[in-house]
Amino acid sequence: MCGIVGYIGTQAATEILLSGLEKLEYRGYDSAGIATVWEGEVNCVRAKGKLHNLRSKLEPVATPAQIGIGHTRWATHGKPEEHNAHPHMDMAMRVAVVQNGIIENYRDLREELKQKGHQFISETDTEVIPHLIAELLKTSSSSSLLEAVRQAVNHLEGAFALAVISADYPDELIAVRQQAPLVIGFGQGEFFCASDTPAIVSHTRAVLSLENGEIARLTPLGVEIYNFAGDRLRKQPRMLNLNPTMVEKQGFKHFMLKEIYEQPGVVRASLEAYFNSDRSSIDTPSPVNLGLPPKLYSDLEQIHIVACGTSWHAALVGKYLIEQLAGISTQVHYASEYRYAPSPLTPNTLIIGVTQSGETADTLAALVMEKERRQDKEPQYQARLLGITNRPESSLGRMVPDMINTLAGIEIGVAATKTFVAQLMAFYALALDLAYLRQTAAKETLEKIINDLHQIPQKMETTLASQESLTEHLAHEFADTQDFIFLGRGINYPIALEGALKLKEISYIHAEGYPAGEMKHGPIALLDAKVPVVAIAVPGNVYEKVLSNSQEAKARDSRLIGVTPVKDGEAAEIFNDLLPVSDVDELLSPILTVVPLQLLAYHIAARRGLDVDQPRNLAKSVTVE
Ligand code: M6R
Repeated sequence: MCGIVGYIGTQAATEILLSGLEKLEYRGYDSAGIATVWEGEVNCVRAKGKLHNLRSKLEPVATPAQIGIGHTRWATHGKPEEHNAHPHMDMAMRVAVVQNGIIENYRDLREELKQKGHQFISETDTEVIPHLIAELLKTSSSSSLLEAVRQAVNHLEGAFALAVISADYPDELIAVRQQAPLVIGFGQGEFFCASDTPAIVSHTRAVLSLENGEIARLTPLGVEIYNFAGDRLRKQPRMLNLNPTMVEKQGFKHFMLKEIYEQPGVVRASLEAYFNSDRSSIDTPSPVNLGLPPKLYSDLEQIHIVACGTSWHAALVGKYLIEQLAGISTQVHYASEYRYAPSPLTPNTLIIGVTQSGETADTLAALVMEKERRQDKEPQYQARLLGITNRPESSLGRMVPDMINTLAGIEIGVAATKTFVAQLMAFYALALDLAYLRQTAAKETLEKIINDLHQIPQKMETTLASQESLTEHLAHEFADTQDFIFLGRGINYPIALEGALKLKEISYIHAEGYPAGEMKHGPIALLDAKVPVVAIAVPGNVYEKVLSNSQEAKARDSRLIGVTPVKDGEAAEIFNDLLPVSDVDELLSPILTVVPLQLLAYHIAARRGLDVDQPRNLAKSVTVE
């Protein structure tokens, strides 16, 4: 959370920083600020709220400075007020710092600095950093900004990324990474740092991701990389495969809507990448091609999946698929719980971390914990880690030896949509691969599933086309509703959870997802004419059960909205409103049934006039615990 950006070069820094921050606003938007060095002074401008507030404040005072740092904040320590906004400075206003992360020992450092006469004006953890750097520049042996920052970071505990400038070192920008992402961009006579690549991709595609414990010194002449001990490291940038137009709205009102419409393309890209093109026969080799080493699968007895939020919902669908198709017992855990209360150690266990950003602190920590607690054990207990991520260059990508890259392309809307569908595709491929190799399903069954999967993009397009006006119409009716219930069973229970999460996070309407059969054990008491119920009912294993559970809700006066295949007459009679999806096998239905729920949430939020892409209190990349 929080986005940081830095620039040094030959152009005016302010606009470059502002446009970089625009691309990072998904990481937090409680306040924003930039600091530049011009005519021997640090000019720092900060504003509460979104970036446009900062822009208006900057218009009359922007300098032609060619060095600067910027920040967009997701508040952790201290309210989202201007005095807590970054950049933070020392008392003499010579050093400016932006930070992403949390400094865990900031209270102790603050006390020590106070004893030395430092006064603080914010409630943030970050403010200790410029004070500490200034103190080191004044008192210790540090003879350069680089050295002072290096000494300062050795006093800091926690996970953080920093960018630092100083009025006394106008040709130097120092960037630090310690368990929070930071990339360095290499242009022609200009250099950048940023929390994420979209902030710099319109300037350069040559990037280098700093590793934990690394410091970069950016000057107009180039970039030097050091470790925290001060040793110089030799590293080369790589070329990014990211097109700047991928981070534009392309005519859609919001990124979220654009991303919902990109989903058929995501499914097509996944089919192309994960499945062999010759589908006439599924004889060896496996029809699935994930490029994973055989040792990951051998003698597998158990799978544990750790994830958060929408990725956790995708993992629940994954559990269903792996257990039903490949017969491997699979448990799904909230990463934030699992890291402190893991299951007893089991042998031959695959641990999967699912995170679209690859930066979710809890998911990364759960994987580290799992790796560490297994490392001194017998071979069968050794960690087998697999990551599923949309950002292979992320911290997750660098931590796990094996990965399934999801192919959603960059997702800007804070509410995950196309990355969820991409994660589902990864789980279909994984479950089918395991089923094939373990011979737990008949070849004909697997062949049919794979062929049916190839029909999904077109079915999704049909579903999207039919849903737009239906969901818009319902949004009009439900814009002022206070509570929603989403019901599903079996493989569609996670979709009920996902539908409720989408509605909560962008429309701020209270919503709960339940397994339909659980309603009668308590939650049914919530129902009356003011609480609409959205039920996902797809012919298959639990179809009649979901319809009965829906009838029970209807008998309590709830208005019933059915997400169900087009042709079903029985469902049409039960539901007050229908959100029909194309006919689909139950096993593949989540990829389609989630679409109307995403659109419903989108249209309700848009109707309520809310900021769909940047809902309050949220951030796209949750890099704090
Ligand atoms: O990047 P991750 O997949 O690890 O993110 C996990 C959650 O923070 C994320 O899914 C969150 O719940 C989204 N806002 C859901 O739309």
